[in-house]
Amino acid sequence: MELPTRNHVFTLDPTRVYPTLVRGEGVYVYDEEGKQYLDAIAGIGVVSIGYGRRRVADAIAAQALTLPYVASNLFGNEPARRLADQIARWTPGDLTSIHFTSGGSEAVEVAIKIGRQYHCERGCESKHLVVARWTSYHGATLGALSATGHVGRRKKYAPLLLDWPHIPPAYCYRCPYGQSHPGCGLACAHALEQTIEEAGADQVLAFIAEPVVGAAGGAIVPPPEYWPLVRDICTRYDVLLIADEVLTGFGRTGRPFAVDHWYVTPDMITMAKGISGGYAPLGAVAVSQEIRTVFEERQAPFDHIFTFAANPIAAAAASEALTIWEEEDLTGQAAKVGDYLYCQLTALQAHPIVGDVRGLGLMAGLEFVRDRVSREPFPAEMQVAKLVAKIALQNGLVTYPGTGMADGVRGDVISLFPPLIFTAGHVDELVDKLDTALTQVEKTL
Ligand SMILES: Cc1ncc(COP(=O)(O)O)c(C=O)c1O
Repeated sequence: MELPTRNHVFTLDPTRVYPTLVRGEGVYVYDEEGKQYLDAIAGIGVVSIGYGRRRVADAIAAQALTLPYVASNLFGNEPARRLADQIARWTPGDLTSIHFTSGGSEAVEVAIKIGRQYHCERGCESKHLVVARWTSYHGATLGALSATGHVGRRKKYAPLLLDWPHIPPAYCYRCPYGQSHPGCGLACAHALEQTIEEAGADQVLAFIAEPVVGAAGGAIVPPPEYWPLVRDICTRYDVLLIADEVLTGFGRTGRPFAVDHWYVTPDMITMAKGISGGYAPLGAVAVSQEIRTVFEERQAPFDHIFTFAANPIAAAAASEALTIWEEEDLTGQAAKVGDYLYCQLTALQAHPIVGDVRGLGLMAGLEFVRDRVSREPFPAEMQVAKLVAKIALQNGLVTYPGTGMADGVRGDVISLFPPLIFTAGHVDELVDKLDTALTQVEKTL
C-alpha cells in the first residue's frame, strides 16, 4: 500500500491523509483549501462556546504575560482558585472541592487514586477494584483504559491492563438481558450489586460510569431509575460512585451535569472537554466533602502530582469560557435546541438503515442496522458508520463514527456533540447534510 506523503508528525492512522484545519468561527471550521465544515461534534465534544471567542483569547494572552506557569505542589494560583469557585457553584450536592488535571484521562486516573487513598486512610486497604461497564470510554491511559469497556480500544493493550470487573451497560435498544424496560426490573443496575457481592465489598473501591454514554455508545441514555439505583447500591456497599462527565459535563445534556437529570449526587465527578470550551487542555475532579474531610482529618497529603496540573493559563481560559457559558445560558440552549435536534433526527428514520435515534440535550446518536425488525447489524468489514462519516465530511459536515454496539465488534453508530451555541438553523443544516450522506451511502450498500 502506498502511504501518504511523509512529514514528521506521528499521526494516529498512517494510511490516512488528514485535512488540515486552519481556522474556526462560531460552529464552522475551515481547512487550508478554504473548505467550510459544519462542526457537529464541537471538535470532539469540546468547543461548546464555539470558535473565535476573542474574550477567551484575550484572557489567555493576559495570563501568559502575567504568570504562565505555577508548580501546583509548591504554590497556589489565582486563576485556578477562581475557576474552582466557579465550578463549585454548578456541581451537585457537596462536590465542591476541585482538583485540576490537563484532560479527561488524567481526571479519571486522579479520581481512582483519590478513591484508593480515601479508603486506605479509613483503614479499608483491601479495597482496590474498580467496577466499570462494557460499551464505555474512560480514557487512553492504562488505568482509565482498564476501566474503559470498549472492546476495540482495549484489544491491543489487553495484556497491560488491570483486571477490573465490567458489568453490562444500561442499553435498552440492545438490552444485554434480552428484556425490555420496565419489565426488566433494571437487571443492568442489579448486576452492580451481584458483582460487588461476588468480588467482596471489602475489595471494591469504586464504580465508574458515564451518565449518558458518549462516543463508545453513541449517546446511550439510561432508564430514569438507573442512576438512583446505582447510587443506592454504592452507598450500601461503601463503594465510591464516580460519574465520568468528561463529555456530558457543563451543559451538554441540557443540565449543568448529566446526573442532575436524576437528582443524584455521586462521590466524585470527572470533567474535562467543555470545561475550557476547547481553548486550553484542562480536566478536573470534583470531590465530595466527605472525602475531603477524611484527607483533612488524617492530615494526609494526596500522593500525586502532574507537572501541568492547575496550570494558570488553562485555568484563565476555562474561567472566561465558563463565564460565557453562564452569561449565555448555554445549558438552557442545549436543552431547547437538543429537543429540536432529536425531533429532526427522528425524521431520518425514513432511511431503512437508521435503526435507533437517541440522545439527551445536544448529544445524539444514530445507530445503523441491516434489518430494522431484527436489529441485525452490518458486518464489521463494511464499515458503514465510517462510510457515512466520510461522505458527510466530503459534504462539509463533521460527525463521529463508532462501532461495536451489537457485540463489541459489529454495530455502527454516528455520534453528534455540536457546540452548545447551535441554533435551530444549524440543526436544519446538519440534518439536511446527514440526510444527503445517508442517501449516498444507501446507494452503495
Ligand atoms: C467519558 C470520557 N471519559 C474520559 C475521556 C478521556 O478524556 P481525554 O481524551 O481528555 O483524556 C473521554 C474522552 O473522550 C470521555 O469521553
